[in-house]
Amino acid sequence: MKKELKLKVNGQPYELFVKPKTLLVEVLRDLVGLTGTKRGCSSSSCGACTVMLNGMSVKSCSVLALQANGAEVVTVEGLAKGNELSPLQRAFLDHGSYQCGFCTPGMLMSTTALLTENPKPTKLEIKEGIDGNICRCTGYNSIVRAVTAVVKGEYKEAK
Ligand code: FES
Ligand code: FES
Repeated sequence: MKKELKLKVNGQPYELFVKPKTLLVEVLRDLVGLTGTKRGCSSSSCGACTVMLNGMSVKSCSVLALQANGAEVVTVEGLAKGNELSPLQRAFLDHGSYQCGFCTPGMLMSTTALLTENPKPTKLEIKEGIDGNICRCTGYNSIVRAVTAVVKGEYKEAK
């Protein structure tokens, strides 16, 4: 039997009805229609489904939707302000921090959560911040370079 689920996604309120076993990633992609959040392994291993839940990064394939009842969720679609990409999004573009792009939303959400918690991480801390995210393409160095550029203040927040 379906149960009511209320949550905010990128500031927008939603009232939905979901089965007890429905996952947060399924709600975001299939009911809310935000397909930027990717579903790779479905077993909490690849990080492609990473979103922020009440300010903490979580793997949305490992969260039951009803566990997010009343929560605020931010997905990759919520990072830009209007047409202005976030500093990390711009840095990823400039540093070529993606190839196929499948991991990129999760990488952006994990690094956004990292910089929210620790605005001046060391290179090691940046690597630790993305150690739950798998990229088959870039070899990670360009991602670490992009985050480092943001940490150095080379990319300002949009006003
Ligand atoms: S799809 Fe969630 S961690 Fe891989
Ligand atoms: S850019 Fe292809 S998996 Fe990371």
